Amino acid sequence: MKIAIMGAMVEEITPLLEALGTHRKTEYAGNVYYEVEYKGLELVIAYSKIGKVFSTLTAATMIEKFGAEKLLFSGVAGGINPRLKIGDLIAATSLCQHDVDITAFGHPDGFIPEGKLFIKSDDALLVIAKEVASQMDKNLLEGVIATGDQFVADLKRKNWIADTFAADALEMEGASVAVVCDALDVPFFILRAISDTADMDAGFNFDKFLESSAKESATFIIKMLDKLAV
Ligand code: ADE
Repeated sequence: MKIAIMGAMVEEITPLLEALGTHRKTEYAGNVYYEVEYKGLELVIAYSKIGKVFSTLTAATMIEKFGAEKLLFSGVAGGINPRLKIGDLIAATSLCQHDVDITAFGHPDGFIPEGKLFIKSDDALLVIAKEVASQMDKNLLEGVIATGDQFVADLKRKNWIADTFAADALEMEGASVAVVCDALDVPFFILRAISDTADMDAGFNFDKFLESSAKESATFIIKMLDKLAV
């Protein structure tokens, strides 16, 4: 089984590479792809760079060039749901693009004709995540993640995203990865640990908690790999 694990930033994949050991490196289309064998699984790991465009390229490359059959995303997000504190984990049940706006033509916010407003994550991977959470005695919130090419550090924008999409967290890559996986029929799972709460302190908190929250997420993903390996 070939599994892709991606992040957006180098900090999001470094804990994975450190834990998973020696790897083969391939440079392709402006990214570095690391291939590792772990407990009988073939893994391809990469960070895309920030945002929907770069993450689309990386997800598609992992599937089309490296042959990934499942994709797990590990990273950080801004929390919306008040139950999410810094360091807490959220697994996306579905994802949407909060910055798509062709409402001028009568379409709802986030909707692209012939696309889906919400893309659902793979149920089987969510079940595995719940098992891991209970074994680790960790709270894992399942909910909607809204994605856009904006670092949100503004209460008004955050509240608009919350109200419009019933979103629990926001970030900058999940929905674009979901679009790729959905189109190519590859089961996917998007995990995020909260680095900030998308308010006026978001920039400061993101810098402060990026590393520790990225590690929380990576540790959880490795436990999921242990389950996928058996
Ligand atoms: N990722 C982590 N925090 C974020 C925020 N506040 N906005 C967008 N993406 C994020």
